[in-house]
Amino acid sequence: MTTDQISHQSSEASQLFEPPADFAARAHIGSMEQYHELYRRSLEEPEAFWREITDGFEWMKPWTELLEWEPPFAKWFVDGTTNISVNCLDRHVAAGRGDRVAFYWEGEPGDTRVITYSDLLRDVQRFANALRALGLERGDRVLLYMPMVPELPVAMLACARLGLVHSVVFGGFSADAIRDRVNDAGASLVITADGGWRRGRVIPLKGNVDAALADDSCPSVGNVVVLKRCENDIAWIEGRDVWWDDAVADQSDECPAEDLPAEHPLYILYTSGTTGKPKGVVHTTAGYMVYTATTAKLIFDLRDDDIYWCTADIGWVTGHSYIVYGILGNGATSVIYEGAPNAPKEDRFWAIVEKYGVTVLYTAPTAIRTFVRWGEEHPDGHDLTSLRLLGTVGEPINPDAWLWYHRVIGGGRCPIVDTWWQTETGGVLITPLPGAIAQKPGSATLPFPGTEPQIVDEQGEALPDGTRGLLVLNRPWPGMLRGIYKDGWGVPGHPGEHGDAERFIEQYWAKFPGRYLTGDGAVRDSDGYFWIIGRVDDTLNVSGHRIGTAEVESALVSHAAVAESAVVGTPDPITGEAIAAFVTLRGGIDASDAMHAELTAHVGEKLGRFARPKQLRFADALPKTRSGKIMRRLLRDIAAGREVAGDTTTLEDLTVLAQLRGDEE
Ligand code: WT7
Repeated sequence: MTTDQISHQSSEASQLFEPPADFAARAHIGSMEQYHELYRRSLEEPEAFWREITDGFEWMKPWTELLEWEPPFAKWFVDGTTNISVNCLDRHVAAGRGDRVAFYWEGEPGDTRVITYSDLLRDVQRFANALRALGLERGDRVLLYMPMVPELPVAMLACARLGLVHSVVFGGFSADAIRDRVNDAGASLVITADGGWRRGRVIPLKGNVDAALADDSCPSVGNVVVLKRCENDIAWIEGRDVWWDDAVADQSDECPAEDLPAEHPLYILYTSGTTGKPKGVVHTTAGYMVYTATTAKLIFDLRDDDIYWCTADIGWVTGHSYIVYGILGNGATSVIYEGAPNAPKEDRFWAIVEKYGVTVLYTAPTAIRTFVRWGEEHPDGHDLTSLRLLGTVGEPINPDAWLWYHRVIGGGRCPIVDTWWQTETGGVLITPLPGAIAQKPGSATLPFPGTEPQIVDEQGEALPDGTRGLLVLNRPWPGMLRGIYKDGWGVPGHPGEHGDAERFIEQYWAKFPGRYLTGDGAVRDSDGYFWIIGRVDDTLNVSGHRIGTAEVESALVSHAAVAESAVVGTPDPITGEAIAAFVTLRGGIDASDAMHAELTAHVGEKLGRFARPKQLRFADALPKTRSGKIMRRLLRDIAAGREVAGDTTTLEDLTVLAQLRGDEE
């Protein structure tokens, strides 16, 4: 997609929402002067800026060198050593805050648990000992495929404690997707559950893992740890499968944390790129720890009396950074909810806000648009006056949805932080600081301290305000990805520290050496506010989840009936973008309704239900230029039901176009 294909609203959105005075008076950053000074200092005196922040963390060996920057390879807090689980847990318990609630957990069926920092530290240590007993060693990879239960953060933190590299795979992904990720990461352990609850039904997590590992297709995996959650029937492989409860039964409550170099890999998280193969984004220990905790504190303005709730799934980066690491890094209290927003009814979120007295709510524009559609009676039926701050993430928010969120959920009194970031950035880069920066509905506003975003043209030249271009970052920041995973990274003595350097460079750095290419189009207005327009590469954003068109295309052509396919995004009032697929079938195969259903289901099996195309059209051929390139712009117009725009004179066969539009009948 190119930047001029998407409309944005910056010009007409003139409404300005100043931070309420009482909010600003109590906020960590309470004025524009303070923000400007912080920002200036972060760029001009980075050593002093980060030193002050990192002094609040626990280091086994404090850093003396801030940054080693050999573009595109960065090392932050270069010679420091630490452990993020110690900073998320032990540090708070040692400070006498062990009785603070870390998580109020609520299962979809209504079961609940309250977990304090002391509880969490104990559970993490026990499970870390269990991991050790299973033979895992520093640098080994562990794949997690779990429901939203407290054992998921427990497992992540236990891995971090031992220097094991976790890779969480969202529970909506299919067996095929699990298999690809296990094999790319060379995972030696998989942690899962018998099932997870979703709208009253059990998601067969263990069954999907079994299917992924069947026929010895994942030779690196030694064991599968299984948590009992839904008590559903599961198959069992003696010798390979181990119940979570049995694994921890005889373990001690104490497990010393590994002293890890700052750049030890913390986790791999797979995300879609422009090829059919997802990229294993690698985040490392110290920089990620400092960046997620600092952004969480200042953006969510976290205080001791806050009850914070991020509604994302931990399987995505939002959950990694702003349910687990960044939030626990502040010793804050949060809510974790297992299930769907409409289980049992459409008011479930608001019932949870009321029940726990949630003060800070962080959710996605897709969810907000869904709530708008469900109607105001659902939030209106609950007391939401505990809320003081709202946040959004994952996709551009349309001003109408923003205004609804502000009025109906925030009661007109809560600032909204529209946080722009990516799996690769580790933490938020462009956002309001809610006590300082006035908000404009639809704009992510200004850069977070330490970051330097810019809008440039195809040649990398800075563009004037008001002109759309490519969003780049002109300098490294502590939370940035360090590379794309390749075998050996993090294993002591193994030389693989930069992973797949070629792909890393090609994807993010080759276009503008030394500057990080985000893949987003954006514009800056005359107040310096950033407006994110959307992806400019061949990735789609469906409900805030990134999906590569190439991945859906390869899923389709892996079906025996499909000769060729092209996938594009199309605007959708709820999910932002929706997937539209165009398919040509092999000779002799009918474009029937049954085939339509079969192909849609096939994509679900290959990738996961959330990646199934919303539209799927058959044609005898795909529209191509004379040089053989599929005309995606034209397909986008067709999918959106727009008049086919622009120059189609290079179209190989005009009848193809008519057929795709359905003109024939
Ligand atoms: C892409 C990253 C960051 C966690 C969730 C998504 C889009 C993200 C915003 C926002 C406009 C946004 C961008 C970005 N995006 N936040 N506040 N406003 N667009 O993570 O799957 O890595 O996707 O999501 O296009 O590049 P992701």
